[in-house]
Amino acid sequence: MELLGVDIGGSGIKGAVVDTTTGKLLTERVRIKTPQPSTPQAVAATIKELVETIGYKGPVACGFPARVINGVVLTAANIDKSWVNVHVENMLSKELGTDVYVANDADVAGLAEMCFGAGRNEMGKVLIVTIGTGLGTAMFFRGELLPNFEMGHIILNGDDAERYCSDSAREKLDLKWKEFGKRFNEYLNRIEFLVQPDLFILGGGASKKFDKFSDRLSVGSARVIPAETLNLAGIIGAAMYCERRLNEKVQSKSKSSS
Ligand code: BGC
Repeated sequence: MELLGVDIGGSGIKGAVVDTTTGKLLTERVRIKTPQPSTPQAVAATIKELVETIGYKGPVACGFPARVINGVVLTAANIDKSWVNVHVENMLSKELGTDVYVANDADVAGLAEMCFGAGRNEMGKVLIVTIGTGLGTAMFFRGELLPNFEMGHIILNGDDAERYCSDSAREKLDLKWKEFGKRFNEYLNRIEFLVQPDLFILGGGASKKFDKFSDRLSVGSARVIPAETLNLAGIIGAAMYCERRLNEKVQSKSKSSS
C-alpha cells in the first residue's frame, strides 16, 4: 500500500509517503521543526502542515515519542506534559479530517528495521534501541513486536538512562564519542543483564556514527549491530503500522458481519 508515515520526534516532525511492500519512500522526506512548546494543538497544526506540503490524502499513522496504549498518550518525557491522557488518535483524526493511527516511535521504527533492515530474519529476542533526543526501545521475539517496552528509563548511575547516554545527553554534556560509547556500553550491559536479548540493534540519530563509538561496546553474549534503515525507520515503520491497523479494521468488520 502507499501510505503516509509520520515520525514525531522531540526536535523534528518528519514524514513521507511509503510503499509498504518495499519500504521505499515514494515522496521526498519532509521535516518540520517540532514546535516549542510541543503542545497537542501545536503538534497537530505541524502535522497538518506536513500532510498538506506532501499533498497526501488518506489515512495516516504516526510514531509518537511516548507510551501510547489504545490511542491514549500515557507518558511525556520528551514532549509537552499536556499530552498525558490525551486520546491522540481521536484528536489528530479530528484535526486532520482523516483516520490517524498512533503508536510508540521506537516500536514503529522497530517494525521497519525488522522487516527491511538489520533485523530481517532475526527470530530470537531482539532489542532495538533508538538513540536520539530520548532512548527508545522496541522488543521483538520470533519477529513479533512486544509493544511499549520503556527500557530507556532504567536507572543508571543514579539517573534516568536517557539523561546519561541518549544523543541529546551526549550533545548537552559535550561528550566525545569514546566517552559516549563507554556510557552506552554500561547501558547495554545493564539491559543485557535484565532482559538478555540475543541481538541489540542500535538505531536513531547516533546510529549513523556507530563506527565512532562501537569499539567501546562489549557485552556478554548478545550481538550489537547498527540499524540499516537509519533515520528513515520511523517514517517507514509508521506507514507499516498504518497498514496493520487498516487490515485489523477490515478483519474486525468482516468478523462482525459474519
Ligand atoms: C520515551 C519513549 C520514546 C523515546 C524515544 C522516551 O523518552 O519515554 O516512549 O520511545 O523517548 O523518543
